[in-house]
Amino acid sequence: MASRKLIAGNWKMNGLTGDSRERVVAMADFLRRQGGGAPEVLVCPPFTQLAALAPLAAAAGMALGAQDCHPEISGAFTGDMSAEMLKDAGCAYVIIGHSERRWGHGEGDTLIAAKVKAAWRAGLKAIICVGEREADRDSGQALTVVESQMIASIPQGANAENTVLAYEPVWAIGTGKTAKSNDISEMHDFIHAYLSKMGVSGIRILYGGSVKADNANEIMNIKHVDGVLVGGASLKVEEFQKIVTAAD
Ligand code: PGA
Repeated sequence: MASRKLIAGNWKMNGLTGDSRERVVAMADFLRRQGGGAPEVLVCPPFTQLAALAPLAAAAGMALGAQDCHPEISGAFTGDMSAEMLKDAGCAYVIIGHSERRWGHGEGDTLIAAKVKAAWRAGLKAIICVGEREADRDSGQALTVVESQMIASIPQGANAENTVLAYEPVWAIGTGKTAKSNDISEMHDFIHAYLSKMGVSGIRILYGGSVKADNANEIMNIKHVDGVLVGGASLKVEEFQKIVTAAD
């Protein structure tokens, strides 16, 4: 059975509450005009805006997510945010292991797996990001790298209700370079087969990395691409709306 596609906007460290509120309101109007049957739409704003945007997103039928969490429930972890706090602020999802956390903050698979378990503990759905660097792809190691990330960062207990996978080649993020359709297809088949081997079915697999209005439809027509994780283009309301429309 084909799952409902998920269109996720990762706003990263951009905008203040006023900008984000305008974006959510514009998305709400758009989704209302679209009527039912649309894909699931998720936005992941910066931490400070979550609580303010939660009622607006809920009224619009849009899901809200955060961009990271800490593995522990509470304690002396200056500057961190627990999954329970994100749930309390109105989140349903949290992105974990984004390449900007893996490579920008030195996060490894063991920490990522602990964060995923924390998300589940709090009742959040984890969006686990995997993806190779350019050198890995150039040396023919893309599948091996992604497989090792999946082995070490997806804990036992993952299922279609609590987990989404996002394949994001690091070299395609924010660069305007999108992976070729046959490479996306090969990787999504590979991830799907790996999850089947783990005994789980129905986990949605998103593609991310320079997704825009003009390539979203082609990407989402590839087998086992169950949606997209969009960075830069999700900050432009019209562009993001076109991406949502492209999921049909
Ligand atoms: P991008 O970012 O769409 O700007 O390439 C994607 C992401 O980081 O999730």
